[in-house]
Amino acid sequence: MTRFEPNLRIPGPTALPPSVREAGGRQMVNHRGDEFKALTKRVEISMKPFFGTEHDVILLTCAGTGGLEAAVVNVLSPGDRVLAVTMGAFGDRFAKVAEVYGAAVTRLEVEWGRAPEAAAVRAAAAEIEGLKAVLLTHNETSTGVTSDIAALAAAVRDAAPDALVLVDGISALGAVPFAMDAWGCDLVVTGSQKAWMSAPGMAFAAVGPRAWAAAQTAKMPRFYLDLRRHRDSQASGESPWTPAVAVMYQVDEGIRLMQAEGESVYARHAACAAATRAGLRALGFALLADDAVASRTVTAAWIPEGLDWKAFNAGLKRRGLILAGGQGKLKGRIFRLGHLGAVTTDDIIAAISSIEAQLLEAGITVQPGAGVAAAQQALVAAEGR
Ligand SMILES: Cc1ncc(COP(=O)(O)O)c(C=O)c1O
Repeated sequence: MTRFEPNLRIPGPTALPPSVREAGGRQMVNHRGDEFKALTKRVEISMKPFFGTEHDVILLTCAGTGGLEAAVVNVLSPGDRVLAVTMGAFGDRFAKVAEVYGAAVTRLEVEWGRAPEAAAVRAAAAEIEGLKAVLLTHNETSTGVTSDIAALAAAVRDAAPDALVLVDGISALGAVPFAMDAWGCDLVVTGSQKAWMSAPGMAFAAVGPRAWAAAQTAKMPRFYLDLRRHRDSQASGESPWTPAVAVMYQVDEGIRLMQAEGESVYARHAACAAATRAGLRALGFALLADDAVASRTVTAAWIPEGLDWKAFNAGLKRRGLILAGGQGKLKGRIFRLGHLGAVTTDDIIAAISSIEAQLLEAGITVQPGAGVAAAQQALVAAEGR
């Protein structure tokens, strides 16, 4: 079967809607001129509701990891005590960034595929005297697990009221509701290539007053990612360094599409996740995450024993379906299917159909249509909710 465009089902970069692609192809403008200043203001203001914040949203030209690095270096000093709650490869990365810059990091490691418990976070935070910050992952892209940031942030506040709550929200913000201010988060990061329907190249950091206060005394070295410089430039619609103009055009258009869709953005992601899970289960795949903690933006499934994944995945690619593999200790053991950004329910049905056809081709017994039927049923149920 020929597909003229692959069904890119990795958890970012995501496939771009036509108007976003066109936006990225627009002619450059003076990044210190009025047109770009207006664009900067528009993007900053329109992002705030997705973060659930009234505080600053700083627009950075860098990968998501740059945003995490900005979070660390702007509020911490070498030797500061940090609790890193990790449940996968990206939580590990956030912890590593803090370690590299000299923070004294204690890890609360949660089994990959599970979500952290608020009680465990409360206990771990209470044990660290002078705790300066807690690193949380909202959506662990390597396992397809979403943590309950409201509960975890409340647990931190309870145990260590002065500790800052820094959140990696890279792969779910914009796709699931988030309430940074109401939940008491101090700094939250996301990335353009995820739910924002845009190319990679920008990170966005929402910064609350406690984090700004910490930035005044933090001693970790920073230059390019100094959020105070960015805040001061952004006040007049500029960026201290040359920004990713084309990505900004795209993010602006992506947000316009998200605003036009309204609250249904969240329902669409929930429906796509439910359909993916039902479809994969009906085809015999075991999923990594329990339903209660399952991500709405990426689903991870175990590769069944005896399945030659390399050959199977090559078959999927021929059918136009591009999936992601496992990371870290799950490399070679799981595959991941992304459903975020401009994903449609039809994309999910097509993906499940491709997997089903490939199983049949591989001689694995499945009832033809079983995966698609289960996915359709889950969609109908989700849409009726
Ligand atoms: C949860 C999470 N954190 C961090 C990152 C790193 O982002 P980037 O690859 O843009 O540096 C990713 C990217 O997949 C992610 O999903």
